[in-house]
Amino acid sequence: MLDKTKQDWWKSAVFYQIYPKSFQDTNGDGIGDIPGIIQRLDYLEQLGIDGIWLSPVYESPQEDNGYDISDYEAIYPPFGTMADMETLIREAEGRGISIIMDLVLNHTSDEHRWFQEALKSRDNPYHNFYVWRDGNPDVPPNDMRGVFGGSAWTYVPHLGQYYFHQFAVKQPDLNWDNPAVREALYKMIRFWADKGVGGFRLDVIDQIAKVPDEKITANGPRLHEFLRELSEKAFVRNGLVSVGEAWGANVERAKQFSAPDGSELSMVFQFEHICLDQKPGGEKWDTIPLRLPSLKQCFERWQTGLHNCGWNSLFLDNHDLPRIVSRWGNDNEYRVASAKMLAVMLHGMQGTPYIYQGEELGMTNIRLPIEKYVDLEIRNVYQERLARGIPEGEILQSIYARGRDNARTPMQWTNGENAGFTTGIPWLSVNPNYNEINAEEALQNPASTFYFYQKLIALRKQYPVFRDGSFNLLLPEDEKIFAYTRDTEQEHLLIICNFTAGSIPFDRPKEFESAELLLSNYEAESNELRPYEAQIFYRNEGQS
Ligand code: GLC
Ligand code: CA
Repeated sequence: MLDKTKQDWWKSAVFYQIYPKSFQDTNGDGIGDIPGIIQRLDYLEQLGIDGIWLSPVYESPQEDNGYDISDYEAIYPPFGTMADMETLIREAEGRGISIIMDLVLNHTSDEHRWFQEALKSRDNPYHNFYVWRDGNPDVPPNDMRGVFGGSAWTYVPHLGQYYFHQFAVKQPDLNWDNPAVREALYKMIRFWADKGVGGFRLDVIDQIAKVPDEKITANGPRLHEFLRELSEKAFVRNGLVSVGEAWGANVERAKQFSAPDGSELSMVFQFEHICLDQKPGGEKWDTIPLRLPSLKQCFERWQTGLHNCGWNSLFLDNHDLPRIVSRWGNDNEYRVASAKMLAVMLHGMQGTPYIYQGEELGMTNIRLPIEKYVDLEIRNVYQERLARGIPEGEILQSIYARGRDNARTPMQWTNGENAGFTTGIPWLSVNPNYNEINAEEALQNPASTFYFYQKLIALRKQYPVFRDGSFNLLLPEDEKIFAYTRDTEQEHLLIICNFTAGSIPFDRPKEFESAELLLSNYEAESNELRPYEAQIFYRNEGQS
């Protein structure tokens, strides 16, 4: 167990993301719930994780599955009660697991009391909690678009004003320029800190300082000022870890966000690697094949750029992204091998790794008929692209490749009905491959991806070089192999990953010829790298 009184305990930690709606249902309503998470804590303890990033469980109309909060200090009833939440925090803590709550500070639901008040009149004290511009019904203040489609402005006739929303119509943006908004949010954060949560994942945090008149969304001029205040008034004081979602982060900005003095955030999620297989200038639906050299060079930039002056979050999957084994691995013949290879590639690096539920089982993407998708983004993009005359088959292909419901299908626990997720009707289809891919099978199989992740997590605790070592990329231009070393004065790691379904000759660098093999996804050794083979070698100067 990690010593969490240490200020930067999270640098040695591995986190696990739970999307509560899809994790475990306990009362047969087809919706995962907090008692379901409590039931599965033993499973998570066995995996070895130190914290849970819990996607939103607050009261919400669920327009965007809880990323539209209508009451920050109440639990969405289908997920459970506040007492369930308190039990979860306590039970997790007893297993050395901190709860990191997902916090949406950029916007609320339009059903939040603040917005309901704001709608009442222009001089209501809450009116200025949101972002308003005068106008007439036909001419929005400008042509900005919401992330989920449509205009970013919605007109309210009885006020003669538009409100601004970077996301859906039902997700009005909070006005961070108003100090009363900020104080209300800090107060709410302290409410949760008092309940014993370990920290927060901050939804689209780089978008809070928007300036709609200048069409600025991410990285607004007051962003760092707001973050420093948030850190000082809410996080540092309570010893909380904070991880910000920042689609607009580059290395330079991330250095500031994650500066070691903790003045802003503990770390950020950046998305540069995630955007490499999308057409430059296009949307995520416009996919192109991944070129391995560009992936390697991207990680190299982040690894070397933040070394000793910031901190990386390491992830390939989350609730907004397709399943990585279907994306950069091989979800057919080499599903298990490639899932393990991708895990090695990521967990070998410096930073705090995040595992998304089911990733440890090698869960895959799903293909559904359009009417079976639930995600509002998928439904909107389908309609918008149809209207633009894009052939339906093409639209569906991009949804299969990138749609957010790929990650949101229910967790696969057993090969029984509905994968053991629910005894009722699941809110989103279960992936039909649960017969083969499920936790019960994985726990019985010593060669499963589950145990492989367990080993990776344990290695990170055992050898300081995983936390501290510098990153040194080998073979930068190679199209097939991702290899790098991690080095401290004492300890050295060599990480080798074959990204292809073919066999490739490979000679280890001389210094590692007699190094110890810590982990591999193949049994016997071989002179060449086999399909999706991954290896971690270790050498300690002090030993030889
Ligand atoms: C973040 C969340 C995503 C949500 C959006 C709006 O990107 O991860 O799920 O839809 O913010 O809150
Ligand atoms: Ca339920």
